[in-house]
Amino acid sequence: MFIRTKKDWELPESAVTSEQAYRTHNRRDFLKAVGLGAAGAALASRGLLAATGGLPAKENPAFPASALNPTAEEFITSYNNFYEFGTAKEQPKVLANRDWKTEPWTVEVTGLVDKPLKLDVNDLIKQAGGIEERVYRHRCVEAWSMVVPWDGFPLAKLVALAAPKSTAKFVKFTSFLDPKSAPGQSSGNLDYPYVEGLRIDEAMNELAFIATGIYGKPIPNQNGAPLRLVTPWKYGFKGIKSIVKIEFTGNEPINTWKQMQGSEYGFYANVNPNVDHPRWSQASEQIIGSTSLLRSRQPTLMFNGYEKQVASLYTGLDLRRNY
Ligand code: MTE
Repeated sequence: MFIRTKKDWELPESAVTSEQAYRTHNRRDFLKAVGLGAAGAALASRGLLAATGGLPAKENPAFPASALNPTAEEFITSYNNFYEFGTAKEQPKVLANRDWKTEPWTVEVTGLVDKPLKLDVNDLIKQAGGIEERVYRHRCVEAWSMVVPWDGFPLAKLVALAAPKSTAKFVKFTSFLDPKSAPGQSSGNLDYPYVEGLRIDEAMNELAFIATGIYGKPIPNQNGAPLRLVTPWKYGFKGIKSIVKIEFTGNEPINTWKQMQGSEYGFYANVNPNVDHPRWSQASEQIIGSTSLLRSRQPTLMFNGYEKQVASLYTGLDLRRNY
């Protein structure tokens, strides 16, 4: 008999989104479930459905979700980095909810794979086996942090669907390009589209996650609707938002921040309190939304607290050089 041992980052069964929530979490089914149909689509993809009650995100107050102390939704959805919609933290919430459409949304999985895919995000969620909730630490390279209850599916499931060839060593992710709707893209504040990458073994690590929701509701535009990458042991810039293409490659992709400023931002971007950013310390971090007067900063943890799950990926790698 197969006995499944719980992973240490996991919530107890009782805290995981119910099967009913899994089904309703599909954005269109969800809208039908709350009776909003097409008119609600715009609202849902813009994260404005809270007033309708949203999804039943079941949480067990006795456990870990609270042990990790999730950041209030208001902060997660209004303090954002999404340069396509401005460089100030409060801009994406406004500018990504103006003209930009995130429904319908097609995702392409391509490159060195036996089973390329091009499909609607809701079909991808179904093929990946539905949604689960994971509460992860979220640490930006700018030395601030949050704790986010994400909904989504393990990236490993998508890798399995694509059946990569043995020559595939990396996964390259590309974000949308729509300068008419994204003022940051028309201003050229970065080279677009935004690109990120992982080594294939990193992509298959149990923690690597594709998020499609936050707090049991469809992911708001400003957080990367309708799907974004979450790699909690890495700095937040690896968590590319609003993905349109996932490509398996033989060579290391050049990620946007490395391309823009390679002396400060690398490919690996593993959270590391011992390797400072050239312009600031990474030893501690500002806790966004902290309600404690005594504790608004905390020490940064190696691999953001996920050393047990990921350290073996980097055996023999000089983490100071491969920042
Ligand atoms: N993805 C895209 N497409 N564009 C961006 O500017 N910013 C990154 C990452 N993903 C960014 C992106 C950075 S620097 C961080 S810290 C996180 O998104 C922020 O995610 P959040 O706004 O959900 O906290």
